[in-house]
Amino acid sequence: MTGDEPVEESESGEPIADGGAAGADDVALDPWGSSAVSDYRKLFEEFGIEEFDEVLEEVPNPHYLMRRGVIFGHRDYRPVAEALREGEDAAVLSGFMPTGDPHIGHKLVFDEIIWHQQQGADAYGLIADLEANSARGMSWDEIDEHARDYLLSLLALGFDPDEGTLYRQSTNREVQDLAFDIGADANFSEFQAIYGFDGETDVSHMQSVVTQMADILYPQLEGPKPTVIPVGPDQDPHVRLARDLAERTRFFKVSKAYASFELEDAERDLVADFHEKLDPAEFDDDQLRCVHVAEAIEGTPLEELSVPADTLSSVLTKLEEAGMEPVRPRTRFFDRRATDEAFDALIDAIDGEKRVYENHVDAFEIDRAEAEELAREVEVDNGGYGFRPPSSIYHRFMTGLTGGKMSSSVPASHISLLDDPETGYDKVKSATTGGRETAEEQREKGGKADECPVYELYAYLLAGDDDEFAKRVYDECVGGERLCGDCKEQAAQLMREFLEEHQEKRAEVEELLEAADIELESPRKA
Ligand code: TRP
Ligand code: SF4
Repeated sequence: MTGDEPVEESESGEPIADGGAAGADDVALDPWGSSAVSDYRKLFEEFGIEEFDEVLEEVPNPHYLMRRGVIFGHRDYRPVAEALREGEDAAVLSGFMPTGDPHIGHKLVFDEIIWHQQQGADAYGLIADLEANSARGMSWDEIDEHARDYLLSLLALGFDPDEGTLYRQSTNREVQDLAFDIGADANFSEFQAIYGFDGETDVSHMQSVVTQMADILYPQLEGPKPTVIPVGPDQDPHVRLARDLAERTRFFKVSKAYASFELEDAERDLVADFHEKLDPAEFDDDQLRCVHVAEAIEGTPLEELSVPADTLSSVLTKLEEAGMEPVRPRTRFFDRRATDEAFDALIDAIDGEKRVYENHVDAFEIDRAEAEELAREVEVDNGGYGFRPPSSIYHRFMTGLTGGKMSSSVPASHISLLDDPETGYDKVKSATTGGRETAEEQREKGGKADECPVYELYAYLLAGDDDEFAKRVYDECVGGERLCGDCKEQAAQLMREFLEEHQEKRAEVEELLEAADIELESPRKA
């Protein structure tokens, strides 16, 4: 970045991660840093988040935030979509740090939780009070006040507390116990690598991380089920770690194997390839054996193999050592941390031909998917969690009304769900737009709806479920028929109405909140 460029924005005018400190090309996903993303494409390329559009068709009655691409990415959402479609168990959970007023950005997450609840998922909303205290230094009094506000808005928007679960981290003993358990599988080096923690990071902050891991897995304490965590992409490091840790708790690892010994992924691909190509009828007793595969590999010109030299030499060694052992595809259950009883129970549970080794069992008549199910069942029956890796969906961050990023510390940049309706009206009226210099130019060239925070308000909130309305605003804007003055007036009025209604509902659900099973006052002091 050169010195004369604006600090908060990249060349494209989009807000950039780290408020510019990291340079326009960097994407940083930092749960406690700036929640702005310069380039959503990079999240797919660099972090392996998948595009939501690709699963959209599998989702029953997709929410408008899904249809409009506001929810832009996911990890492993398919099992959740399938469970919703089939009416099977699923869960949704997200958490809120009570550091300020809930605002229209939080509304996206409230809506996502509520929508999943309405589609039949078990819904969980939690107050991340330990995190607010440890990572943000909030006092317990402040936390209580904000927590109440988040919960009222969540209920006002339609969360059903009788069907769903609300809790705060600090008073949920099960979450704390689970956090302690999971903590045994995580260590400081890993936190360092993921979050940039160092020698100065306080221990409570680290504890808030394992607590979040426990939050994410909490719905599965009742039994494994597809669980989705709707969050902003800044939370992706947490999601990845939770997926990892969930895997580490598992008793067995299911994989595919071709002989008694273990192969690395690249080695296995190579053997699979030759197993496919070679015809057993060409060998002495109609048996394809490890030596045969080794010979075939050695007889293949290097450039046709396209594997690194060390993979090649290690796979050859393994095959040659196994010698006359037949090559036969099988499903492997590797014993990671099962008790002896669980390992025995697994052996009993496997149907058909099987072979038992010291640390694994090979099954010859079970496919991978069946094997995963079986491994989970045996684990749960034998006192394990059987966690499925949690899934996630990611929504775009809203642009601030003043341009740049929406920030809780800049009141004019966002609209609080507690803002006086008139204030909401005024904030929209003074928002920046994607409009042209003059009305004439706007009529001629059209507005830039894609860069307009006011258009975002329509798409993310004001148009509600009415896709046609959202599309009309867009088309009229880019077609030059819509001018910013009227457009903002309409949006401002809709915002005023929304806030009035929302705040009325908040008042109505006060009783519901008092009756809900969550502690509204922290027992802690100072
Ligand atoms: N870390 C989240 C935030 O900063 C809050 C949170 C705590 C959370 N536990 C969670 C989010 C579990 C999703 C799932 O807002
Ligand atoms: Fe934004 Fe509306 Fe102006 Fe288009 S007409 S740039 S949507 S304010």
